[in-house]
Amino acid sequence: MKFSFYNPTTIQFGQGQIASISTLIEKDKKVLVLYGGGSIKKNGVYDQVEQALDGYTWETFGGVEPNPTRETLDKAVEQMRTSGLDFILAVGGGSVIDGAKYVAAAACYDGDGWDILIGKHTVTKALPIGAVLTLPATGSESNCASVVSNKATLQKLPFMAPSVFPKFAVLDPDVVKSLPEKQVVNGVVDAFVHVCEQYLTFPQNAPVQDGYAETLLRTLVDLGNTIEQKDDVWRANLMWTANQALNGLIGSGVAQDWATHMIGHELTALYGVDHARSLAIVQPALLKVQLDAKKAKLEQMGQKVFGLAPSETLALDTIDAIAAFYNGLNVSTSLTEHNESKEEAIEAVISQLEKNKMVALGESQAITPEVSRSILDLAVAG
Ligand code: NZQ
Ligand code: ZN
Repeated sequence: MKFSFYNPTTIQFGQGQIASISTLIEKDKKVLVLYGGGSIKKNGVYDQVEQALDGYTWETFGGVEPNPTRETLDKAVEQMRTSGLDFILAVGGGSVIDGAKYVAAAACYDGDGWDILIGKHTVTKALPIGAVLTLPATGSESNCASVVSNKATLQKLPFMAPSVFPKFAVLDPDVVKSLPEKQVVNGVVDAFVHVCEQYLTFPQNAPVQDGYAETLLRTLVDLGNTIEQKDDVWRANLMWTANQALNGLIGSGVAQDWATHMIGHELTALYGVDHARSLAIVQPALLKVQLDAKKAKLEQMGQKVFGLAPSETLALDTIDAIAAFYNGLNVSTSLTEHNESKEEAIEAVISQLEKNKMVALGESQAITPEVSRSILDLAVAG
């Protein structure tokens, strides 16, 4: 396939690199430091940012929630305008960085910011962003995607725009030290599914993309299996792997899937399931329902990633190995956190998918609401 590969984000990798942001933001910029629920105030990250911003004009906006909402982010847009700020420094995980992308784009648009998510406004202009990553998982620190939720309508929708690529991203693996174990695990699983969404489709004669994807997957399996022995090298490797999993490279020139993400987003919007955990619930069921279409790549993955021997049941065994990998990290592969009956939960998800026009998902647009229903039937516990 024809493709353009563009990734303008400068990566500042390693311990102590937060200090380098003073060399990356022009001195005349008026900076909004955007952050989440306050973890950065407890682990020393905020102090390092404060030191690095010495001499700059800057303000803060805290309280961006996991799965950031437009309701909160619109207040940050207002602050940017009132205070005449022109640079956003996102200090946090994917939610804060995604939130910064929305704020950066909405601040340059006169209409309702939500128009960006529903496709009513195409983003061509955004304020510049820098990122200090505190949770390796999403790859948001060096990609141009953002996912924003709307509390009022229970929607969670993505947008992509080259103008919201962060100018730089600081990846200091020490930030992982303060992460609750659950969030470390979420990072491993989310990055793993990101690679799968770009790799587990059909053979496309793309040995560079396939080979790199397999390396990333094997690394994530190794990291997951050694999670109890985390050290500096482990943390650094997770940070780099999660970044590489979704910086646009392995998805260049190949058909991509992303159905697991789109169905998973509805589980988060409706039931508050953590992003990574929503993926672990959907993906094994989706792979089973899509077995015929994905058989060749599942077999390739089974051999190259899990070291399985060729057999009649290799594709199914690979799905089992993926599920066992998640379960071994105490991540469930079935939805239990819904309040209604199984049928009602499935109907609720299908109706949100239809409302959000997620009606032809997957690499071949073959996942209609009816196919999503079969996937959910397998994924939702009775
Ligand atoms: O808010 P604070 O107090 O900082 O706490 C956060 C939050 O509660 C905490 N945390 C982050 N860094 C920490 C820390 N706690 C202690 N020490 C640290 N160093 O972790 C919690 C979760 O943070 P969040 O940012 O929500 O997690 P994650 O990075 O997994 O981001 C998830 C969001 O990213 C979106 C997801 O849909 C979800 O909304 N995604 C964005 C993508 C993209 N832009 O490319 C792709 C992904 O597929 C994903 O959809
Ligand atoms: Zn994800």
